Amino acid sequence: MSGIFIAIEGLDGSGGTTQSKLLRQWMEDQGRWTSVHRTWEPSGGPIGKFIRENLKLENAEALGDNVFPYLFAADRQHHLDREILPVVAQGGAVITDRYYHSSLAYQSLTVGFDTVAQLNAGFRAPDLTVFLELPAEACLERILARGGALERFEVIDRLRAIEAAYETVLSYCAARDEAVVRLDASGSVQDIHARVISAVTAAAAT
Ligand code: TYD
Repeated sequence: MSGIFIAIEGLDGSGGTTQSKLLRQWMEDQGRWTSVHRTWEPSGGPIGKFIRENLKLENAEALGDNVFPYLFAADRQHHLDREILPVVAQGGAVITDRYYHSSLAYQSLTVGFDTVAQLNAGFRAPDLTVFLELPAEACLERILARGGALERFEVIDRLRAIEAAYETVLSYCAARDEAVVRLDASGSVQDIHARVISAVTAAAAT
C-alpha cells in the first residue's frame, strides 16, 4: 500500500483548517491507509513553536523579516523528518495545513520569491496540493466573523498582496509539474469538502 502526502493551502480565512479536519475524518473512514495523520505548519515541533511565538504582534520586531524564511525552512525539514516522511513511508496518509507554498507566498513579500524558492527547492513535493481559492475580500469577512480584532484596511491590503503572490506560486508549481488543484472555496463547508474529496480521490487513483 502506498502512502500519500497532501498539502492544503490558501489565504488566511480560506478554510484550510476546517477542510483538513474533515478530510482527515473522511480518509480515516475510507480505511485505505495504514494511518491518517493531520498536521500543520508552523509545526508543533520546537522550531514551529518558536516561530509562532515570534509571529505574535508584540514580538514582531524581535527577529526581523529576513530571518523568517530560514526558520520556516528549518521547521519544514524537521517536520518532514519527524512527522511526515516516516508516516508516508509506512503507507500512511499525511495532511498538512500549509507547506512550502505558504513560504513562497508569504515570505516572498519580504525577501523576494527567488530567495524563498531556493531555500525550499529541495523539499519533497506533496502528492497533491489543494489550493483553496477564495478572494481576499471573502477571506476578510470570514476572519472578521470569527472575531479577528484586526485593522480592516491594513488586513485587506495584506490579503490582496498574498493573493497575488499565490498566483506566482501556482505558476511556479505548474512549471515544476507539481500536482496542484485549485478549488473554489466559496459556498458551504460541505460543498467545499465534496470538492476536496473528489480531488483526493483522483490523486489517490494515480
Ligand atoms: P496559520 O496556519 O494560518 O495559523 P493559525 O493556525 O494560527 O490560523 O499560520 C500562521 C501564519 O503563518 C499564517 O498567517 C501564514 C504564516 N506562514 C508563513 O508566513 N510562512 C509559512 O511558511 C507558513 C507555513 C505559514
